[in-house]
Amino acid sequence: MKKNRVVETGDSLRKALLCGMIREEDTAVIFYNLSMLEERIRLLSSCFPPGALHGLAIKANPLFRVMEHTRSMGAGTGVEAASLGEVTMALKAGYQPSQIVYDSPVKTVRELAFALKTGININVDNFSELSRIAELMPSIETPAGYHASIGLRINPQVGVGTILESSVAGVYSKFGVPVNSRRNKIETAFLAYPWLTGVHLHVGSQGCDITMLVDGIGILYDLVLEINSKRKQTGMTPVSVFDIGGGLPISYIDRDIPPSMKEYAEKIEERAPLLFDPSCFKLITEFGRWVYTNCGWTVSRVEYVKHEANINTAMLHVGADLFVRECLNQRDWHHEYSVYNHEGQLKTGYSESTWNLAGPLCFSGDIMAKELKLPVVEEGDYIVIHDTGGYTFSMWSRYNSRQTPRILGYHDHQFEILKERESLDDLLEFWR
Ligand code: LLP
Repeated sequence: MKKNRVVETGDSLRKALLCGMIREEDTAVIFYNLSMLEERIRLLSSCFPPGALHGLAIKANPLFRVMEHTRSMGAGTGVEAASLGEVTMALKAGYQPSQIVYDSPVKTVRELAFALKTGININVDNFSELSRIAELMPSIETPAGYHASIGLRINPQVGVGTILESSVAGVYSKFGVPVNSRRNKIETAFLAYPWLTGVHLHVGSQGCDITMLVDGIGILYDLVLEINSKRKQTGMTPVSVFDIGGGLPISYIDRDIPPSMKEYAEKIEERAPLLFDPSCFKLITEFGRWVYTNCGWTVSRVEYVKHEANINTAMLHVGADLFVRECLNQRDWHHEYSVYNHEGQLKTGYSESTWNLAGPLCFSGDIMAKELKLPVVEEGDYIVIHDTGGYTFSMWSRYNSRQTPRILGYHDHQFEILKERESLDDLLEFWR
């Protein structure tokens, strides 16, 4: 476990305990290091050309207060929205329509009309959706200064990564239009619709290496250059918006060295140089995991410990409600864990037998990690689960009706409540 990270987490945990930000009822708390989040976004912007739009994937972290923070980071920071709900939250958080990229494979006619009227960028998933837009177009009055773009999601079919359920660029994918079998139809669409000025791809999330991501971009880049030469011959404006999606993998385990954003950007520029020329293309990115995950951690009080012959179990206040994929697919999803005593002092060493981390839910699969080597864990200790800033709270499950935890953000150990622990009344409202 990286020492400085354990020290930083421990310092914040102790401060939060001391200043009463973790109260008796806060059996689990989610933390966000907001300074680190800002640093990540600044680093992201510095790797790509000026004028690029970085549509942070809301699905990775839909917290409204976090969205307000990211919005304040300048015009180049936007959002990628996967539903009308996410679009609505982004607008409410103050994002301009031109900073929002709307991706969803199942947009209704009403949703499309709303996005078109509002001036939100749309990535179209399939040819039927494209026809719906073509039908809507003549009746839509777009706002003054309308700069939204419409792009087509194309599956570059570069194969699947190491995690099947988050790979979307295999020969078959439920997303987008496959480049190989539909090449002619894609070209025809770009020659038929002058307003179709963008392309979009997303290869996968975690588990896809840089080579695979860059190959996907390269395939679409070549296709766009070809389409543009044909559009030019017919006097059409070129396709000029290129959305590379997200997918840069991060490290959940200290021994894994993740690729850097800088290296990824350099490889893209090498393969597709014009994407870095703002006079040719507007580049859009849609990173989620890389931006958010390492900036967050979750702490749970240990309510009970159970000892059996060769295995110990720590009974926690979070399980498959917050860590659904860790519980259901332990082959692919892991975290680093650290143990602190009730005052937030780090515990070290290893106990003789290994530990399971079990949650509070009523099914036997509610164990987020098995056979971990940990220090001796006792009732009242705190277990920190590292790297939970992305795709964790956003995937919260209501099963068993547990209250969602308090969520704290901090800058230099100054805490703010990003979201209060759910009250029993709010919980009741959900089911009523
Ligand atoms: N753009 C599109 C169209 C996407 O579908 C995704 C993620 C992203 C961008 C952001 O990808 P990222 O940079 O975060 O890798 N539920 C899963 C994650 C699925 C990700 C889905 N799409 C999980 O358990 O982590």
